[in-house]
Amino acid sequence: MARKPLMIGNWKMNKTPAESVVLSQGISNRYNRKWDKVGVVLCPPSIDLRPVVTVLDYDKSLIEVGAQNVHWEPSGAFTGEISIPMLKDVGATWCIVGHSERREMFAETDETVNLKVRALVDARLHPIVCVGESLAVRDAGTTIGFVTDQVRAAFAGLEPAEAALAVVAYEPIWAIGTGRTATPEQAQEVCAAIRATLADMFGTETAQSMRILYGGSMKPANVDMFMPCEDIDGGLIGGAALKVEDFTALVEAAG
Ligand code: G3P
Repeated sequence: MARKPLMIGNWKMNKTPAESVVLSQGISNRYNRKWDKVGVVLCPPSIDLRPVVTVLDYDKSLIEVGAQNVHWEPSGAFTGEISIPMLKDVGATWCIVGHSERREMFAETDETVNLKVRALVDARLHPIVCVGESLAVRDAGTTIGFVTDQVRAAFAGLEPAEAALAVVAYEPIWAIGTGRTATPEQAQEVCAAIRATLADMFGTETAQSMRILYGGSMKPANVDMFMPCEDIDGGLIGGAALKVEDFTALVEAAG
C-alpha cells in the first residue's frame, strides 16, 4: 500500500515564540513542489503554537502544526496543562503523545497515553503515539514485546477508523539525542512488529494505511538508510528539526 511519507519536527523546549516564527518562516520559505509528496508537521512549544500557525497560514503553506502534549480533559483544575479545545482554537491538528521524555520525567503512563489518544481522536485530531524501549530492555532482548505492549495500551478501545487518525513513532530511548541511531534492520524489525500489532487490533487494511515513523538521531546523513524500509514511513525529528537546512533535507529525502 502506498502511504504518504511524513516528517514531523519535535522542537521540544528549544524555541521562544520569536525564534519559532523565524524557524517556521525559514522552513516555509523552503517549501517547493517536491514537498507536495510528503506530509510535514511542526511541533513547537505550546506557547508558540499560534505564532507558528499564523506564519504558515500567511504563507498558505501545506505544513501542519502539532502540540507536544495535551490533557485529556476539556477543561478544569489542571494547573499548567493545555486542553484539546485550546489546540483547536489555535489551529493545531496534531499532538505528540507518550514521548519517552514525558514518560520518564512527567509521569506519562500507558493509561494516560490512552486517555489522550481517545480524547484526540474524539476531536478528530491526529495523535502521534510515541513508543520505544530503554537500553536495558534492548540489551535484555525484550524490545518487541515491550514496544507492542505499549502500542496495545495506547490504542485500547479504539475503532479502526479512529486508530487510522493516528501515526506511531518508534523512538528507541537510547537513540534519542545521542547521535547513535538504531540500525535500519533493528528499526524495520520493530516497526514491522508495530504494524502487525495494529493489524491484529484493527485489521490489515487499517494497519497498512497507518504511518509508522522512526525517531532517534535521524539526520540528513542517515535518513536514506531508513526510508527504503518497508514499514518506516518517515521520521519524528528532534535536533535536526531545529535547523532549516537539515529539516528541509529530511523532507526532501522522504519525498
Ligand atoms: O521526538 C523526536 C525526538 O525524540 C528525537 O530526537 O534529537 O534524536 O532527533 P533527536
